[in-house]
Amino acid sequence: MTDYALLERQLQALLDTRDWLTNAAQTCAFLMQEVEGLNWAGFYLQRRPQTLVLGPFQGKPACNPIPFSKGVCGAAARTRATQRVDDVHAVADHIACDAASRSELVVPIVADDRLWGVLDLDSPHPARFDAADQAGLERLVAVFVAASDLAASDLAASDLATD
Ligand code: SME
Repeated sequence: MTDYALLERQLQALLDTRDWLTNAAQTCAFLMQEVEGLNWAGFYLQRRPQTLVLGPFQGKPACNPIPFSKGVCGAAARTRATQRVDDVHAVADHIACDAASRSELVVPIVADDRLWGVLDLDSPHPARFDAADQAGLERLVAVFVAASDLAASDLAASDLATD
């Protein structure tokens, strides 16, 4: 079982800059190292209206871009609610970046009431993520948000005016 309280303290110590890019890169490398059974961990960022674009990640090259209307990541962006999928094959519009992926957890990242992006974790194991993983990863996302100057991502507010 993953000790998320420990990971929370370690991530807080690791994120020693306000730079969102450095912190995002460190966060996905940290998750890939510390959370067992993952084949992909990374960020998609909202840098265009209703669209997620690939950000820092660990794992195989991934699908880009992802419209809000598609896939598990799109559902997380649209609803701003964490999506926990035990069997991605059962999700009709799941976007298969890697055929090995069987389960998925996507946590929305909201700052100042704006959807900044999502954190996406994939696993080759069915039902890899339970409620404790969801709660733990939501706390780790909160650590990332608190540590980072998300407003400084080079997204012009006007780019999202049609949201
Ligand atoms: N499976 C995701 C797409 C992103 S990849 O897993 C990295 C989805 O359905 O949104």
